[in-house]
Amino acid sequence: MPIEKLFATPVYTAPLTARRNVSFNPQLLRECRQLRVDDPAGRRWSAANYPGGYTSYGSANKMHRVSPTFARLQALLARHVAAFVRPLEFDLTGRALEMTDCWVNIMPAGVAHGLHLHPLSTISGTYYVQTPAGCPALKFEDPRLDRMMAAPPRRAGAARALGPWVSVPARSGHLVLFESWLRHEVPVNLARTERVSISFNYAWF
Ligand code: NI
Repeated sequence: MPIEKLFATPVYTAPLTARRNVSFNPQLLRECRQLRVDDPAGRRWSAANYPGGYTSYGSANKMHRVSPTFARLQALLARHVAAFVRPLEFDLTGRALEMTDCWVNIMPAGVAHGLHLHPLSTISGTYYVQTPAGCPALKFEDPRLDRMMAAPPRRAGAARALGPWVSVPARSGHLVLFESWLRHEVPVNLARTERVSISFNYAWF
């Protein structure tokens, strides 16, 4: 077919390590929960910005510089980020893409995280620590959606890549990477157990 796919939107998903790592996630989970206990500023920030949940986004948002466990996560993420950005062919003018922020998200039952993007960053992503059965996926919005005012809807069962929304399941031990301008949300957690994840940004300036 003489059709090119232009302006494609890349999203990367992979297990963090090839081997099942039995001790790493339990240690991360302990630290995420401990942080919630030790971080009153984060609990206050979350009460205003993430009702019912806890995030250290507004308080302890450089966990890779604070905790050796998070630093290990950063080290393990490095090859994934390199693999994701290589085909994007960024010209970083000699500068390196570096992790600038790394924070904890704890989402109890009934909590949602509204639509947003990550300004002032280049690559964003999430690593899943605990994902109970029935917990929500990461839901991406087609970045062209605001230009589709008169476009017909797609047929039921149309190809996944054609949908205005695409959900990437949250799986513990796995990560998702995307360009920071891509809007996303996490719908309400319908599982009884907390969904725990660690999110991060990379920038080159
Ligand atoms: Ni986000």
